Amino acid sequence: MRAVVYDRYGPPDVLRLEDVERPVPKEEEVLVEIRAAAVTRADCATREANRRSGLAVTLLSRLISGLRRPRQRILGSELAGVVEAVGAAVTEFSVGDHVFASTGFRFGAHAEFVCVPESARIAHIPVGLSFEEAAAVCDGGLNALWCLRQADPQKGKMILVYGASGAIGTAGVQLANHFGCDVTAVCNTKNLELVKSLGADRVLDYTKEDFTRNGQTYDVIFDAVGKHSFRRCEGSLKRGGRYLATDGLRNLILALWTSRFGDKKVVFSIPPRYTKQDVLFLKGLIEAGSYRAVIDRCYPLEDVVEAARYVETEQKTGNVILTITGRGT
Ligand SMILES: NC(=O)c1ccc[n+]([C@@H]2O[C@H](COP(=O)([O-])OP(=O)(O)OC[C@H]3O[C@@H](n4cnc5c(N)ncnc54)[C@H](OP(=O)(O)O)[C@@H]3O)[C@@H](O)[C@H]2O)c1
Repeated sequence: MRAVVYDRYGPPDVLRLEDVERPVPKEEEVLVEIRAAAVTRADCATREANRRSGLAVTLLSRLISGLRRPRQRILGSELAGVVEAVGAAVTEFSVGDHVFASTGFRFGAHAEFVCVPESARIAHIPVGLSFEEAAAVCDGGLNALWCLRQADPQKGKMILVYGASGAIGTAGVQLANHFGCDVTAVCNTKNLELVKSLGADRVLDYTKEDFTRNGQTYDVIFDAVGKHSFRRCEGSLKRGGRYLATDGLRNLILALWTSRFGDKKVVFSIPPRYTKQDVLFLKGLIEAGSYRAVIDRCYPLEDVVEAARYVETEQKTGNVILTITGRGT
């Protein structure tokens, strides 16, 4: 099968298409012929060994992914496709089923085939959803769900989502809205309409207004794009408020510190623990018409380098997808 591989850490150019061995499903695994896969910030960060996050994080990243070179040569963790074969013990899926899945740090989705354990984060694609739309469900969706649940989202809670136009942000606005929170979303001018359509009660344009200076306070500030800071937001949190972080070593330290001192807390719990139930939860929301994955651009698998370059601009709106038209071998 064809797969996008990389053998050294570095910029998007280290990625290349190669013919590799097609995986064989174990007893409890499903073999999926992939039709679409997301290119995520996690893929990019892993590919360059998190070099933008400083030496300590780079070292940690290399310890996990391979000290000298990447152990897992194929990136990609969010996918949708057709079940090609199932192991003998699989009961939930049959050949021909349309499925979407999240392989997490096992990666392997930037390829024509991947094996996923039946009990892992895999589910049937909701009726009417394209492969591209299904592949875009989990990246921001799972992360936003993980973060929000740690702030006990409830009806009437005032939440501000900063970076509301990214993969996590677009999911965060919709999920906070689903949980009944009062949602203020912050994004750039060009994304105001989109973010409003996702269910935000009000939308602030960060190029025109600094939310930390308008006197409003919130129970939760969700920094969905890692571009703000607890210190700058602190005055906009109500007593007992939570700052939800998605990125940054400093937030890990602040999470530890504020767990003991002060009544405003930084919440940054890694690694996130996503479950199959979470995927089924998102599927249920899609079927109920309460959630949709936002897609910015689709690229053919062959243009993976260009797709990765675009993701690295940190300006995508929602998700970037690779479409894969396999040769089936
Ligand atoms: N997605 C993952 O796989 C994953 C997993 C774990 C952690 N993270 C971390 O979570 C964060 C978000 O990931 P993501 O995939 O959701 O990001 P993303 O989709 O790449 O976010 C891009 C969006 O952020 C907006 N943005 C950029 N700079 C901004 C700023 N200064 N203020 C407000 N908005 C800004 C951009 O809109 P404008 O350019 O129009 O402002 C764009 O729509 C990243 O720090 C990432 O490292 C991601």
